[in-house]
Amino acid sequence: MHVFAPGRVNLIGDHTDYTGGFVLPMAIDLGTTIRGERGGDRIELRSDACEGVADMPIAVSDPASAIPEWSRYVAGVVAELQPRQGFVGEITSTLPLGAGLSSSASLEVAVALAVGDERDPLRLALLCQRAEHRGAGVPCGIMDQLVVAAAIEDHALLIDCSSLEWRPVRIPDDVAIYAVHCGEERGLIGSAYADRRADCVAAESVVGPLRDADIDRVERLADERVRRRAHHVVSENDRVHSFATAIEGGDYVRAGALMTESHRSLRDDFEVSTTRLDQLVERLSAIPGVFGARMTGAGFGGCAVVLAVPGTEIDGWRLRPTAAARVSGDAAG
Ligand code: GLA
Repeated sequence: MHVFAPGRVNLIGDHTDYTGGFVLPMAIDLGTTIRGERGGDRIELRSDACEGVADMPIAVSDPASAIPEWSRYVAGVVAELQPRQGFVGEITSTLPLGAGLSSSASLEVAVALAVGDERDPLRLALLCQRAEHRGAGVPCGIMDQLVVAAAIEDHALLIDCSSLEWRPVRIPDDVAIYAVHCGEERGLIGSAYADRRADCVAAESVVGPLRDADIDRVERLADERVRRRAHHVVSENDRVHSFATAIEGGDYVRAGALMTESHRSLRDDFEVSTTRLDQLVERLSAIPGVFGARMTGAGFGGCAVVLAVPGTEIDGWRLRPTAAARVSGDAAG
């Protein structure tokens, strides 16, 4: 059996998914491959990117304490799936780890397809999201797992994280998308991420769901930090729609300007950028041929995403919009 699960880059809409907002991620042609066979009663996976072996019984009770640490993603998926048989295989990855390109969601979905029989994209994504909560202890939203499980070639997905519906947004051939690493490994983000979520919950207890919140009411929130967090979310949700319209209409200058605004908002209002990321975004934005750049994903290090004229000299990965995770030689059934 052979499974490939892509990573993802988020074009716009960060820290909006867990309040039921809008996001526009795209699955990329870097990802996680698993080759192996089902059988026996243990899960045993080796990885070319990480030390140690993910080795566990098919009945996992405490995924958060699995060793080595990377095997917690595997254990989370196994605990959610409760497979009837084991799997022995090898993981190879072309994704930089901890760079904001969803190496964890890519691994989770790949493991779920290798080990289990769930093939419905939404159910698969929800299962892997729960696996991340249980295994890694990060209270992530649904964006990463859903785009990895549901993406369509040549398109990004505009996801409504409240209704969990999505629509493909075509990425035209006359524009290119790059990811550039800021050189700073993304730190352990669990607690800072949870703090941002808590700020959003605090805002919602006053103004109701941020997805529907009126910006004037948000501006009147008494707590200054909570007000800035909410301001980011409400303005970012608007930018996602404007960006999708701009890309579909070929207005890349407008799309780039929205990326710049998004970065500022994540930097100043949501405070999830870093000095290195800010400097990188500034440097990239000044390159002729670049329409816009912003940090992408959770932040606290990792990558910037860039929208540019194809062929622009950029010292990163040129990313192609690819299809969802897939299985060949499926032994399911
Ligand atoms: C991480 C999470 C996502 C999302 C982003 C920020 O990637 O896994 O659910 O919240 O951060 O947009």
